[in-house]
Order: sequence, then C-alpha cells, then structure tokens
Amino acid sequence: MSGPFLLSDRALSLKPSSTVAVTSRALELRRQGVDVISMSVGEPDFDTPAHVKAAAMAAIESGKTKYTAVNGIPELREAISAKFSRENGLSYAPDCVTVTSGGKQALFNAFLALLNPGDEVLIPAPYWVSYPEMVALAGAVPVAVPTTPESGFQLDPQALEARVTPRARMIVLNSPGNPTGAVFTPEVLEAVAGVAQRHGLIIVTDEMYEHLVYDARQVSIGRYAPEHTLTINGASKAYAMTGWRIGYAGGPRGVIAAMNALQSQSTSNASSVSQYAALAALEGHEATARFIAMAREAYRERRDVIVAGLNALGLPTPTPQGAFYVMANTDRIHTDELEAARRILDDARVAVVPGTDFGAPGQVRLSYATDLNTIREVLRRIGTLLT
Ligand SMILES: Cc1ncc(COP(=O)(O)O)c(C=O)c1O
Repeated sequence: MSGPFLLSDRALSLKPSSTVAVTSRALELRRQGVDVISMSVGEPDFDTPAHVKAAAMAAIESGKTKYTAVNGIPELREAISAKFSRENGLSYAPDCVTVTSGGKQALFNAFLALLNPGDEVLIPAPYWVSYPEMVALAGAVPVAVPTTPESGFQLDPQALEARVTPRARMIVLNSPGNPTGAVFTPEVLEAVAGVAQRHGLIIVTDEMYEHLVYDARQVSIGRYAPEHTLTINGASKAYAMTGWRIGYAGGPRGVIAAMNALQSQSTSNASSVSQYAALAALEGHEATARFIAMAREAYRERRDVIVAGLNALGLPTPTPQGAFYVMANTDRIHTDELEAARRILDDARVAVVPGTDFGAPGQVRLSYATDLNTIREVLRRIGTLLT
C-alpha cells in the first residue's frame, strides 16, 4: 500500500487466513450458479427461541434503547451470576461478571487486560483460529500443545506441563472444543488446575459450547482452581443467538474491572436490546431448557449420521463428545488438507474448512449445524470423489 495509509505493524502481523481461499472460491462458485453446500458455518441453524425474541421486542417497545452500564444491566449480571452458581458450581458475584459484545470480545478484553509482550500462552491444538491471533495481537506468544485424533483430542496434562517455561503466563481451554468437539474429562481438568496452581498460571476457559455435550459430562475448571480461573461464556451457541452479540465473563474482581475499563474506551456496553433478550434466555428456565434439550438431541442425531458416514467413506473421523463440528482425516482425497478442501469444493460442491489454521494438518472441519437431509447429501457428494 502506498501513500499515507501505511498499515500498522499490528495489522500487518495478522496472519492471512488460509481458509479465505476456500471461502472465496465457494462464493465465486455460488455466483456462477453452482449449488454449493456449506459445511463451514460456525453457528446453530435453529432460530432464536420465541421467548427470547419476545423479550427483545418488549425492550424496544418500552424504550430500553439507550446506553447501559459498560459492564451490562444489573439484572443480566445477576442472572449470569445465578447461572454460574446453578449450572457450573462457580461463585462469581454480580460485580465479578461483565457483559460483552459476543464471547469474542470477552476473550479479547481478557487477553488485553492480562498479557504483556513476550508472555507465553499455552493452547491445546487443534484450536479455534482466533486464540493465537488474539494472543499475538496482545503482544504475547501462543504455544500449541498438540492433542491427537487417536485420543479423541483429549488433553494430556503432562504434555501441557512439559511446555511450561518461565515465560508461561496463561492456559487457554475450550471444552467442548471448536474444531474438535472434544470434552476434557473432570480428571484432566483437575490435573490442568494443578498445573496452573504449581506454576502460578492463569486459566482462561471458553465454555461457549457447554450445553452441547452428548455422551460426556461438561465440568467447569473454575471449580478446581477458582483463584486462577477466568470463565468465558455467551448466548451465541447455547441459545442460537449468534447475531445478538452477547458474551460474558466471570472472574476475579480486579480482572473484571480492568476488562470493563478497556471496554469503556472501545465499544462501551453490549447492545441494550440484546442484553434484555439474553436476560430472558438465562432466566427463562423452562422454555430455555426445552430449547437446549431439543437442539442437543438434534445435534446428537446429526453427529451420529455424519461420523458414521465419513468413516464409511474411508475418511477417519473420531466421534466428538460435544459442540457441532467433526474433524475428518482427508488423506484418501489428498495428503495436503488445503488441496483436499479444494477438491471437495470443486468436485463435490461442498465447502469445508481445511485444518491448516486450526493447527490440524491432514484434516478438514465440517460443521453439522444443518439438517439431516443436507448431511446425507453431503456424504453422497463426498462419496463421489472416492469411488
Ligand atoms: C470456541 C469459540 N469461542 C468463542 C466464539 C465466539 O462467540 P461469539 O459469537 O459469541 O463472539 C466462537 C464462535 O465461533 C467459538 O467457536
């Protein structure tokens, strides 16, 4: 770029995403009228529950359309505090809770509030693409801790501890995880809590997919090391509210205060209307529980169909315990996952995400947040590449 608009070092340091090539190609094919099925989206296909939408409309009608407190309306922070206690066994007072514009902003604020240049952040791989990028934007250094498909991507606490150096400052956990769907067992979480306690590390735990668990038990690591843990969550995945942009965090008072200070100088409060909608989701116990149970059963059935189908095609795919993603080994199509994703798109007309940016070579991610008929058609299309 020439002229006065030279980009900052920070902007230039952002890694160009290798998924962009596949996404642009999918858009291009669609523009040409080719029927491409997208299995790359990271959001529920269900509509936001009716009681949540009704609460948002009531908020608009009654003029709740002004700035709120930076950290969120008190009713919502109280509801989140109660939720942490009821569902997670965590004790965060309402002033130890902050509401953000999506889970992403909670994570971003947390990294900016806690990391200094050169600090090392341990992240189990495969990981959600935004963690290393956000950590690097804060000037810190992401350190991948590999997990394997053979173990169902379960974290090995000893492998984690082996990567702790004097510069280590934080562990980022995501269970159930994107992209693997792995749910870390209570024993693993307790051992990771021990690592944090032994080495004086912060644990940032992203529990966005906590309700989407199938044959496993989701436990919050904050139960084992409360004094080390910042817990991040949000409305996006649990209540099919991705567009409303509501996330939240619970943690030590001083950390939450620093996150609020950062937010006060950037975006201020999360959308007022969305906050009232999230309040209804968090408070509407019966209706919300029914919605979550319905979604969970639907995802479980889809997971079973897609995992069985991909394995039957000779693309080894572990059975994930949570979230709505599977990781398929695509060696049978091409040993380079970017090339495999390109062929799946060009020749089978299915958009998947290559594992390159997730720290998952040789694999692609498919989201099964879509209906069963579409999943069956995807399997049929991918099958045509392999016969
Ligand atoms: C693991 C994980 N954390 C956080 C987020 C972001 O959630 P939100 O849409 O609330 O910002 C996502 C979204 O894809 C995710 O997969």
